Amino acid sequence: MQKITIAIDGYSSTGKSTVAKQLAKHLGYIYVDTGAMYRAVTLFTMQNGWIDKDHFDVLSLVSNLDKVTISFTFNPELGFAEVYLNGVNIEREIRTLEVSSFVSQVSTIPEVRYQLVKQQQKMGKDKGVVMDGRDIGTVVFPYAELKLFMTASADKRATRRFNELIDRGDEVQYNDVLRNVQERDYIDSNREDSPLVKAHDAIEIDNSDLTLTEQFDTVLNLVNKTL
Ligand code: C5P
Repeated sequence: MQKITIAIDGYSSTGKSTVAKQLAKHLGYIYVDTGAMYRAVTLFTMQNGWIDKDHFDVLSLVSNLDKVTISFTFNPELGFAEVYLNGVNIEREIRTLEVSSFVSQVSTIPEVRYQLVKQQQKMGKDKGVVMDGRDIGTVVFPYAELKLFMTASADKRATRRFNELIDRGDEVQYNDVLRNVQERDYIDSNREDSPLVKAHDAIEIDNSDLTLTEQFDTVLNLVNKTL
């Protein structure tokens, strides 16, 4: 059967990665979490002390981008690929609220985007890929056969992210999570380079009131119509 490229974009915590992982597993496709790549560069920036609440040393980051190697290794126990920064597994570290609070700023930098987009295009060049992010259907794979744009109310999204963080033992306040989700959406939608917008040919799915099964069935139906 022919393999296609599935691009999933949308606001923060809309469940993109959940449906992308389900789809990739069902279809035997590769899943690429591009948010994890921007989070990895953010962690690298934080580790070097180039970003904090009061400053962001963009020049140092840009001139050291050649020292960033991001890779994915499939973890059969988890059923998806975990992200590595320079050979170190950072899957857990990149999901903290602290990384989330800087990632959108780092993601505005064109040199960062250029490097990551190039890598993403390489990973998806043979099709048979489900990739999620903010610019997949508009920039990374503008000719993807199927483009989805996920939305959900800000409250639903913040609640999901809050529960995820609490479940893994992080001490966070709901209001901080909600503020972070709203701030990221604002920066991601208003940046100059590759802002988050719905591609003209993307299909919008509002999953505020869908169960995971309903969401998966909806998406699988769209995939089957595309194949
Ligand atoms: O998907 P996730 O919420 O982990 O993404 C974290 C951040 O990475 C986003 O808020 C956005 O700033 C950035 N991002 C991006 N382009 C992508 C994927 C993520 O700018 N393709």
